[in-house]
Amino acid sequence: VCGISMDSHHEKKPHAICIPVPAQGHINPMLKLAKILHSKGFLITFVNTEFNHQRLLRSRGSDALDGVPSFRFESIPDGLPPPENLDATQNVYDICRSIQENCLGPFKTLIAKLSESFSPVTCIVSDLLMGFTIDAAKELGIPAFLLYTGGAGALICYDQYPNLVDNGLMPLKDSSYVVNGYLDKVVDCIPNMHGIPLKNIPPFMRIVNPGDEFMVEFTNTQLHKAKTASGIIFNTFDDLEHDILTTLASVFPPCYAIGPLHLLEKQLVDESLASIESNLWKEEPECLKWLDSKASSSVVYVNFGSITVMSHQQLVEFCWGLANSNQPFLWILRPGIVSGESEALPLEFLKETSSRGMMVAWCPQEQVLNHPSIGGFLTHSGWNSTIESLTNGVPMLSWPFFADQLTNCWLSCNQWGVAMEIDNDVKRDEVERLVIELMTKEKGNEMRKNAINRKDKANEACAYPSGSSMISLEKVIHKLQTFPK
Ligand code: UDX
Repeated sequence: VCGISMDSHHEKKPHAICIPVPAQGHINPMLKLAKILHSKGFLITFVNTEFNHQRLLRSRGSDALDGVPSFRFESIPDGLPPPENLDATQNVYDICRSIQENCLGPFKTLIAKLSESFSPVTCIVSDLLMGFTIDAAKELGIPAFLLYTGGAGALICYDQYPNLVDNGLMPLKDSSYVVNGYLDKVVDCIPNMHGIPLKNIPPFMRIVNPGDEFMVEFTNTQLHKAKTASGIIFNTFDDLEHDILTTLASVFPPCYAIGPLHLLEKQLVDESLASIESNLWKEEPECLKWLDSKASSSVVYVNFGSITVMSHQQLVEFCWGLANSNQPFLWILRPGIVSGESEALPLEFLKETSSRGMMVAWCPQEQVLNHPSIGGFLTHSGWNSTIESLTNGVPMLSWPFFADQLTNCWLSCNQWGVAMEIDNDVKRDEVERLVIELMTKEKGNEMRKNAINRKDKANEACAYPSGSSMISLEKVIHKLQTFPK
């Protein structure tokens, strides 16, 4: 192996091929990591699926994808029939299955093509759930680092699946266990997660719904492969999840907490890459102007991310909970967020809230959360949303929907004191009560203070040169630059 020196010729630079899971919450952190690596002298090839490549072209325009010659975009097929419209949210189970079965061949072909026509690929930086990339790295004899886009707490729950089975806790015997109070049972066999109830363990591990068994197998396969990677990168920071990270490092390859990635990005990435963005939906930046007109910490920001789907009745409960709270709100209603036929909001609700509510389909979330008028975030607790909220000192109400979101919710509410949970069977009275508590009461203030404390710690972690995330990043860079002759 040898270290390599940087210079302006492509051939002498390390060349990282970065490949996210084809979903918004995975593309965003991977793109930030890719930009950070570019700022450290790497050539970057960023690989999307063909469907997402089309969506990015649509939402950003072609300029956004041919920014600079040393940062290129490529695409490979995901193996699924293309959805009817570019706003469609692809089914998570289908996409995981298809990636696993279909992507290795096109990925290897792409690497061979790049190595001939552009520059030899010297390392793979892949999403942890794209385990096939490990097989490619082994064949090529190059290092593969994996980015886990969730929190360390969720990863430890996944890794403990066999332990939960041995303890007779999972899978559930039948679906009646979901409603009979059994899920309130506290689990004590997951290291560093003492006190977590079964209901906050990623729900597909219960194996009661179609597709759950596949997801458990899929996750186990990815974890097995991840244990042979060169290293695991986390979009978290040491102060937030120190003990969990230490435990993970004893069973996984070296673990590097280099988050929050958006803070490192701000410090390290220059303007030349500013036009490269990753929104699959078209942003509506007018909402920022609307926020300008609002008082400090007065607005509730409502956004359930890119994959949550709710029933029309749940939508209606949120509408009336927000309306009855009397607080100003900015609500992002992504096309397709409501399952079934009707996405229509009640007319009375629209009339009643027209002077203090703004609704758009997609927003620049990082800017929104950074806006001084935002006082609280009603979220699904996706990891990116969680970390973006924390680093802006914004307390949360959490209505988790899928996978790691339930675990993120528990950590936010019970370990970090920055959130309150809304019952899965959402009712307007509870939404109203919790929104008022979040925005106007002592509990909300306390959570805001806790979030601001975490914000300070996140900034310390990303400080140059001795913050913990900065130091870990340097270690990752060093390892990625070291490759076979
Ligand atoms: C999912 C999971 O929930 C998450 O925990 C996992 O690790 C990655 O995939 P998603 O459900 O979409 O992602 O939520 P989240 O993790 O919060 O990611 C959404 C991203 O889209 C965030 O970076 C957010 O800033 C961005 N976003 C969302 C916008 O820019 N605008 C919007 O209107 C909504």
